[in-house]
Amino acid sequence: MCAKPIDTKHITYENLLAGNKQFIADSLAVDPDYFTKLAAGQNPPVLWIGCADSRVPANQITNTAPGEIFVHRNIANMVIHTDMNMLSVLDYAVNVLKVKHVIVTGHYGCGGVIAAMSNQEFGLIDNWLRHIKDVYRLHADELTAITDEQQRVDRLVELNVIENVYNLCKTSIVQNAWAKGQEVGVHGWVYSLKTGIINDMKVSTTDNENMDNVFRFK
Ligand code: CO
Repeated sequence: MCAKPIDTKHITYENLLAGNKQFIADSLAVDPDYFTKLAAGQNPPVLWIGCADSRVPANQITNTAPGEIFVHRNIANMVIHTDMNMLSVLDYAVNVLKVKHVIVTGHYGCGGVIAAMSNQEFGLIDNWLRHIKDVYRLHADELTAITDEQQRVDRLVELNVIENVYNLCKTSIVQNAWAKGQEVGVHGWVYSLKTGIINDMKVSTTDNENMDNVFRFK
C-alpha cells in the first residue's frame, strides 16, 4: 500500500498563531525562565546547512532545541562560493559564534536533486540547480553506471553533500579559521525521509589534509 503525504489542511494562518500560544504555554510550564534565558543570547556550537524541504527541520530530527543549532537552509543544501547569504551565515557562525562544527545535511528524495538530474526546464531555479548538474558531470562515470534510477538519485544526493562539504572547506572563511588554528569540524550527512535515520557520509575533516593544494590558504 502506498502511504499518503501528511495532511496539512489544518495548517491555517490562524492556527499558526494559536500554535504559538501553545508553544509559549508548554515552554513556560517546563521552565518559567525559558524565554528570559533564550533572550540573553545564543551560543550554538553547530552550524547546519540543510535543504529548505519542510520535512527536514534541523532541530526536530536531531532532538535539539532553540538556541542549540544555527541554521541556514536553501534548495538542495548548496554551498556556492558566490552566495552572499550562505557566506554571511558562515562568517557569522565561524567568526562570531565560534561554532565547533559545520554540517551539510542533504536528504534522499531531494526534489532539487531529482529536478537537476532531469532534462526538464523549471525556470529561474534552473540556474541554482545547474550547480548540481556540475556535481553530476564530475561523477558522471559512477552515476551513469547505476542503472536503477532511484539509486542513481540517492547517490547524486550523497555526492552533492560530499561536494558541498568540499566547497565549504574551500571558502576563505574556513580556510582562514584553519590557518589560524581555530577548531572547526566540517561534516556531511544525508537524512532518510523513509526511516528518519541520518547517514554520515564519513567525510568529516578539521584540516586541509585532503584538500587540493590550489585551494589551501597558508
Ligand atoms: Co531537498
